[in-house]
Amino acid sequence: MNLGIRVQLLSRAQIRCYHRICRIMKHVSLSQTNDLMPTLGLGTWQAPPDVIESTVYNALNLGYRHIDTAFNYNNEEAIGTAIKKWISDGKGTRKDLFVTTKLPHVGNRAEDVDKFLTLQLKRLQLDYVDLYLIHVPFAFHCDDQTLTPKVKSTGEYELDTETNHIMIWKKLEECQEKGLIRNIGLSNFNEKQITKIMQSCNFKPQVLQVELHAYFQQQDLRKFCSDYEIVVTAYAPLGSPGAKDHFVNKYNYNPDTFPDLLGHKDVKEIAEKHGKTPAQVLLNFLVAQRVVVIPKSTSVNRLKENMSIYDFELSSSEVNRLKKLDKGEDGRIFNFLFWKGVENHPEYPFKIQKVEVEQVKQ
Ligand SMILES: NC(=O)c1ccc[n+]([C@@H]2O[C@H](COP(=O)([O-])OP(=O)(O)OC[C@H]3O[C@@H](n4cnc5c(N)ncnc54)[C@H](OP(=O)(O)O)[C@@H]3O)[C@@H](O)[C@H]2O)c1
Repeated sequence: MNLGIRVQLLSRAQIRCYHRICRIMKHVSLSQTNDLMPTLGLGTWQAPPDVIESTVYNALNLGYRHIDTAFNYNNEEAIGTAIKKWISDGKGTRKDLFVTTKLPHVGNRAEDVDKFLTLQLKRLQLDYVDLYLIHVPFAFHCDDQTLTPKVKSTGEYELDTETNHIMIWKKLEECQEKGLIRNIGLSNFNEKQITKIMQSCNFKPQVLQVELHAYFQQQDLRKFCSDYEIVVTAYAPLGSPGAKDHFVNKYNYNPDTFPDLLGHKDVKEIAEKHGKTPAQVLLNFLVAQRVVVIPKSTSVNRLKENMSIYDFELSSSEVNRLKKLDKGEDGRIFNFLFWKGVENHPEYPFKIQKVEVEQVKQ
């Protein structure tokens, strides 16, 4: 049945509701290429290769068309295998997909861009990526054998303090001209760093990927991005429940610094009212504000759950209630202080309290 006929059969109230729901966009258009970026993507951090291969294949079958990975997640090859299988099984074409990956902290210098991008495309088994982000604004010296950061005997990371964003960006523009990258963007950069790139680039950043969830809503940064037509992608949109174990076990973080966003009373109450889950409410809240979300899950049920976010609308009082959960800087989970000494890099992007550095060092 075509849309016109179906609408005739709906009541006025249903039509009003239908139009309101359609306002929640499934895609955003990137300003310089007009590429359509799905507002829902699959996050893949902490998803090991043996798990992510079937997860991505399942996600694509369910209708996900946007996958977010990074050199540092060590799973690009498995993701590439899943994509290749999905295409060769006749389920869709490369053009149907939006694949994002990121230049790592150990490759953050103009002369290393080719090396990493070539390797990443090989691992992903792709001719191009839809979006390539500079993962973080700072850089570490690279151990050429393992392609991981060099670490001193004190546990401090060896900072490469010569980082030059403009030179890296120019190199990325060259890669884009060659057709290896459709769009270029940034991740974890602050306003000042983005502005500096915009002042000398030919192709401006299309996307900024930052931590963003109800506890850390980044209103100022979002306003800045909107003024410059930079699409914002929210990482950790559910408050990254999986980060807690990782940071506590691997880096000795205090578990109390990870409040449970999915379990917040207000989120649960709103979810119950709509017959939805807390995760669906948190994702809908962001997507309705034109923020792209990339929740990670390796469970098929949660993949389905996280997709079903476009068929309801929060009332303005519910939106205001969720806006009030914002803790500002105190809501930030990813300050990267687990990389010992990173705050001394001249391009470390965040304003942090001395006490936070001390806490992580303990
Ligand atoms: N640019 C950066 O520096 C950066 C940093 C961090 C993350 N990222 C990207 O952003 C993505 C998302 O961030 P994230 O993985 O940290 O956090 P997240 O998406 O907020 O949360 C993922 C965690 O929530 C669980 N989960 C997923 N759906 C759920 C649901 N419906 N109900 C309850 N729990 C659910 C997942 O477990 P299960 O897998 O067991 O379902 C996983 O532990 C990453 O995967 C990565 O692609 C980028």
